[in-house]
Amino acid sequence: MAVNGKAGRSFWDSAHWPLMRRALPRSSGPGTAGPILWSIVADLHAPQQPEIAPLASGLRSETFPVAMNPDGTTVDAKIAAFIRTAEQGFYEPWLSDEQINHIGQVLIKDEQTLTGVYVDRDDAAEESWGSAHTQVGFDADHPVGTFLDYDKTLNAGGPAGPIDARLITVVTVSPSFRRRGILKHMMTSALARAVKDGVPVAALTVSEGGIYGRFGFGCATREANIQVDLGEGHGEGFALRSEPSGRVISADPVKLDEVIGTSFEAFHARTRGSIGRQQTYQKAATARWNAEDLSSWNRKLRAAVHVREDGTIGGYVTYRHEGWETDPSTIRISDLIAADDQSHLALWDYIAGLDIVRRATMRTAPLADPLQPALLNPRSYKVTGLRDLLWVRILDVVQALQARAWSVDGAFRLELEDAMGITGGSFTVRVHDGAATVTPAAGAAAAEDSAEDLPTLQLSVETLGSLYLGDVSVRTLYAAGRLKDTTAEDVERISRIMDLPTPPFCATHF
Ligand SMILES: CC(C)(COP(=O)(O)OP(=O)(O)OC[C@H]1O[C@@H](n2cnc3c(N)ncnc32)[C@H](O)[C@@H]1OP(=O)(O)O)[C@@H](O)C(=O)NCCC(=O)NCCS
Repeated sequence: MAVNGKAGRSFWDSAHWPLMRRALPRSSGPGTAGPILWSIVADLHAPQQPEIAPLASGLRSETFPVAMNPDGTTVDAKIAAFIRTAEQGFYEPWLSDEQINHIGQVLIKDEQTLTGVYVDRDDAAEESWGSAHTQVGFDADHPVGTFLDYDKTLNAGGPAGPIDARLITVVTVSPSFRRRGILKHMMTSALARAVKDGVPVAALTVSEGGIYGRFGFGCATREANIQVDLGEGHGEGFALRSEPSGRVISADPVKLDEVIGTSFEAFHARTRGSIGRQQTYQKAATARWNAEDLSSWNRKLRAAVHVREDGTIGGYVTYRHEGWETDPSTIRISDLIAADDQSHLALWDYIAGLDIVRRATMRTAPLADPLQPALLNPRSYKVTGLRDLLWVRILDVVQALQARAWSVDGAFRLELEDAMGITGGSFTVRVHDGAATVTPAAGAAAAEDSAEDLPTLQLSVETLGSLYLGDVSVRTLYAAGRLKDTTAEDVERISRIMDLPTPPFCATHF
């Protein structure tokens, strides 16, 4: 099987095998004799930076951090032009200076890095369209491609807690410069930087599903749009089977900073698939970020906080009324973050108890929502839409799989194909007490492993991205023809080790 698709680029190339076999003493391997040679093998398996796709002539790319002007409240023209271009790429309005400066301040808090692709005016002048571009186009500091990345953590479910993830967002290319490889250049450069920085996974959310598989991203979590009928009466309406403990109190959103921080921290630590949140969430939940008008507060926002019986905070909900022209009278939940399941139900019970309201909607509900089975009438909970959210790109398969959750103890061989040559190869995965040890299959270790009757999983890095957090099972991917030459018998054995009992959930959009 072809591993590390870019032949000759990766050290993990079959041409190196005979050499490595001769170099390694029989007993070498992790925890045995020959530690120096073993570390050489491990280094050879270290993730490789992908080849950076070149830009077409006449284009240049710049990567730079967001910085405020010395006044501390405004951004310079280049950053303002970047933000305006990106917003226009998603068909948003032309933002005012005040709105731009507001965005600049939150980008700084998350240490976001901008990459812009610019038209070289001198080169453009040689083209037939060059003078028109200068005359009617946007100013020279407006890029024709935008790309933004920053680091947060991902809870992959493993016992050691969340791992670093490079988040990619704000990907746009000007309509006049599409399909000339600008995205490919920005993406390959960003993945090369992430590998250099030692980040084990990259993640993004997508506007179209057919774009990012080619870069090794697999759809890894989904979320539900829900509609909950709040009518009264046990037959048709909302009634929980048992009353949640504690008390929910109406809250002033502007006072929620600390509650939001501690509630999300607890939610993030307990939720496989969760991504650390950017500053905009803090601002939005405290009414200081109004997506409909960035220059004003969100005056429609309401909030409530669950207080447990011991007086500790269990979570919060923010919401707004949809307006009296909406029939039936509807509450839209903006954000509901609970540190435990009791708090989740208690916050819903509070929403259901609001007067003169007959429906609640939420666009970001988990697939395995405890609310539905907690209801006397499960039909009052309707899933009105299902959407992919997080897409994951494994950059370091050893680190990533060691940070993942596993079902039972066991072992298998992994043959990972990575067309970009970043992290493909042959590995042995051994799970013990819920934690995996992943070793490159090389030298004497390979000989020992091959003597063992281990099932083999063969797949692409994109497919591993989908399997990673447990959104889809090994069996389903096999049925879909995504597991290459993996046999039905091996699928059953690996499924027991790898498939997880509940779907993952990411409550962070970026
Ligand atoms: C999507 C977008 C960023 C692509 O940029 P681009 O510079 O034209 O892309 P490239 O020329 O680098 O194309 C890279 C590859 O992706 C493919 N591709 C690009 N856009 C695609 C799309 N919308 N659907 C499917 N494939 C697409 C290209 O055909 C090319 O394929 P290849 O690897 O076989 O050569 C650009 O069209 C855009 O800005 N769209 C509007 C905003 C948006 O949707 N952004 C994505 C946010 S997640």
